[in-house]
Amino acid sequence: KGFLKEAEGQLSQPDVDVEAVRVAFLGKKGKITGVLKSMKDLSVDEKKEVGQVGNQVRTAIQEKIEEKKAEQEAKALEEKLASETLDVTLPGSKPKIGSAHVLQQIMDEIEAHFLGLGYQIIDDPTDSPEVETDEYNFERENLPKDHPARDMQDTFYITPEILLRTQTSPVQSRVLEKHDFSKGPLKMIAPGKVYRRDTDDATHSHQFHQVEGLVVGKNITMADLKGTLLSIMQELFGEKHQIRLRPSYFPFTEPSVEVDVSWDEVTPDTKPEDIKWIEVLGAGMTHPNVLKMDGLDPEEYTAFAFGLGPDRFAMLKYGVEDIRQFYLNDVRFLDQFNERG
Ligand code: PHE
Repeated sequence: KGFLKEAEGQLSQPDVDVEAVRVAFLGKKGKITGVLKSMKDLSVDEKKEVGQVGNQVRTAIQEKIEEKKAEQEAKALEEKLASETLDVTLPGSKPKIGSAHVLQQIMDEIEAHFLGLGYQIIDDPTDSPEVETDEYNFERENLPKDHPARDMQDTFYITPEILLRTQTSPVQSRVLEKHDFSKGPLKMIAPGKVYRRDTDDATHSHQFHQVEGLVVGKNITMADLKGTLLSIMQELFGEKHQIRLRPSYFPFTEPSVEVDVSWDEVTPDTKPEDIKWIEVLGAGMTHPNVLKMDGLDPEEYTAFAFGLGPDRFAMLKYGVEDIRQFYLNDVRFLDQFNERG
């Protein structure tokens, strides 16, 4: 009966390990089992009494254990239910909404600017295919097969005649050859992806973007080109960045220029030698050969063309020093440009 008190005492603890109590009292080596086992040395009368009391105590402890077990299970269930309660009055969690990629944002800005100047946007794959022919990518751009300037654009060939376009310039010919000049001059931009067999590093990527521009009409001059380039640069960078035009070479323009933008903002106190220039676009007056191949008389029509690099614009605008960041799809990087916050 002393054991019964002892067991009851232990079972009254709220967090008692019920199984351990069962083993201690009723298990094979338990206290009650021990008493019942030792009966064999007793007299018949003693056996009877000890047996009776022993069994009563055993049943009583068993009942107490069951009771305690049920109590603990009920309590655990209650706690679980409480922890899983849904508070419908709490504000909902806000789902994450994506946004346009930073390069797309820049291209949208460029498109909006040129739309405002009355340009058409050419982005339909029939006029602006990424898988191009050698003819449109090179030959129609005044780059015949053995032209040394082909080395300027290391190319991914699919077959000897089909390639991944290295520039958006082929879109010029695709659109120009169809243009109806009785309806007015041609003013177009073509934003898109281009590919070059470069080894990726901080400033080179085997895939990047260009926005091609082309204006064809009568009396189109270099002054028109310069004014147009200044307007887009001012739109994108504001007054604080300087622009520099340098003579350059492209097979499809003559004369050709390269346009650089200052890496940092330039003030009246900035010394010219301290300005760090970064090349952002190539441009020029369309070569007469190109106009001829597209069916125009260069004596009648003149044209200018340019190729902008949105990747470089984005690097400049946001101070990104590694072009590869744009293509890693690391949401932590991209989220910085999430317009929706
Ligand atoms: N297609 C040239 C390039 O990829 C850029 C360019 C376009 C230059 C149009 C002049 C005129 O380097």
